[in-house]
Amino acid sequence: MSVIVEPDEPPGAHPPAPPLGGPYRSDTLPDPPMIVLTDRWKLERSYTIEVAEKAGAYVTARRALTEMEPAKLIDEVKAANVRGRGGAGFPAGVKWSFVKPVAGKPVYLVVNADEGEPGTFKDRSIMELDPHRLVEGCIISCWAIGAHVGYVYVRGELALSIRRLERAIAEAREKGYLGAKPFGRDFPIEIYVHRGAGAYICGEETALLNSLEGKRGEPRLKPPFPAVEGAFGAPTAVNNVETIASVPDIVKMGGAKWAALGQLPNDGGSRIYGVSGHVKKPGLYEAPVGITLRDLIYGLGGGIRGAENGRTLKGVIPGGASTPILRPDFLVHAPDEKHPLHKWHGKSEIDVPLGVDTMRALGTMLGTCCAIVMDDTVDMVEAARNLMRFFHHESCGQCTPCREGTAWIERILTAMVEERARPNELELLVDVSNEIMGTTICALADGATMAMLGFVKKFPEELRAYVKRSKAPGLTAGLGTGRALPVLGASSDVVPPGRLVLPRGESGTQRGGAS
Ligand SMILES: Cc1cc2nc3c(=O)[nH]c(=O)nc-3n(C[C@H](O)[C@H](O)[C@H](O)COP(=O)(O)O)c2cc1C
Ligand code: SF4
Repeated sequence: MSVIVEPDEPPGAHPPAPPLGGPYRSDTLPDPPMIVLTDRWKLERSYTIEVAEKAGAYVTARRALTEMEPAKLIDEVKAANVRGRGGAGFPAGVKWSFVKPVAGKPVYLVVNADEGEPGTFKDRSIMELDPHRLVEGCIISCWAIGAHVGYVYVRGELALSIRRLERAIAEAREKGYLGAKPFGRDFPIEIYVHRGAGAYICGEETALLNSLEGKRGEPRLKPPFPAVEGAFGAPTAVNNVETIASVPDIVKMGGAKWAALGQLPNDGGSRIYGVSGHVKKPGLYEAPVGITLRDLIYGLGGGIRGAENGRTLKGVIPGGASTPILRPDFLVHAPDEKHPLHKWHGKSEIDVPLGVDTMRALGTMLGTCCAIVMDDTVDMVEAARNLMRFFHHESCGQCTPCREGTAWIERILTAMVEERARPNELELLVDVSNEIMGTTICALADGATMAMLGFVKKFPEELRAYVKRSKAPGLTAGLGTGRALPVLGASSDVVPPGRLVLPRGESGTQRGGAS
């Protein structure tokens, strides 16, 4: 089912941003703010074990290891409906239930702290400000899935995160929370920090595993999925930092109660929202699952920077660079009562609650839930070129469509901004993007092309204007398909739903037009 937007809305049809200067009101933002995961961040020296323990750290791990059976823990995480916070949104409890011990092989927990998605900066703050929450989450998770060893794979540049996490691990070991008998339970658990070397692709779970094993950080073909054959060929749960840091609260509150913190079905809890770019108060904010981008931008983010001088919101990338851009002046078109977004029919895209499934239905992705806000001064073609340069640079090069295609996309966009694009170059851009989709080993290429098509879908006039200004002759025969460009303007046809939450991880891809 796809969406959804009416691209050619007459000017003024869109509900305007909240009145300038007035207080922002919202039905979904809790007042006072909901603080669960980040409750220790405000404490001085919150990263030390003394401070963290005084504020409740390790009480839940002690209870989990002394009183609770692994199956019960997995049930709680399932009941919590915690959707993976690393981008793909896969339910953590379901993933854990796929991790089955195999005779003669260990089970591993691997925490993904690579955090390379442009615009995303939440995991590093968890590790810097409350590393004990992550360590406690690791201990409980290891016990739940039967892992004696957990690896935290941290982006090498995150020096402070690494320092504080290593210190937290040492403190927990000294207290006997890690080691041979954590909390007296005869189940040895060790956590190791592994430093990555700063490649975006090493955030992809199988590339991460290769890198952890000392191999080139290149994604593996899936299946087998890591739950079956992960680190060192053994069953492995790979989870994001925020996902694992949420586990102590899930177990403490009980899965169902934690799930009810959120405002959407099948997408539970509270989470950390990031907002950067042209807002008055960029930063991280904890809030329930299901607030809107309007809440994030105009409520938590304080509104558009320079709004007093006429600056307005032009577009917002909802959850990291690979999530297609949204426009406040595009309206949800879901007249069918059965459509998942029917409730928001006629409302702005930024009024749809931020959830894994709602963003997917909107033709974008929740991703890492860290939004990049762009005001009306932004040249969207330049912005797209900037992102596509990143994806091209970070492609590991294994798959020809990704290696060559991302380069091609970047070249076309460069030709546009340098005003030397040929007349058919926009059609070529769409063609190349569509042809890449679904043909590669990992989701980097899908993420790049979905983001690219998002720009085409939402800002075709800007791309066209660049082509029009260019003075280059027509495309040489053989370049491009010469097909007409049915997609532009009919936005819902342009962007295939693409890879989103797939039952067994995010590597599979869906192709084709909106269904
Ligand atoms: C190119 C690429 C980069 C990724 N980078 C990260 C990352 O930095 N951190 C992360 O947690 N997940 C990242 N992911 C998603 C992981 O592959 C995986 O889905 C995630 O770590 C699973 O954890 P979760 O289920 O708790 O979200 C990336 C995926 C792709 C395709
Ligand atoms: S899609 Fe790109 S990054 Fe992913 S494996 Fe293929 S070449 Fe590497």
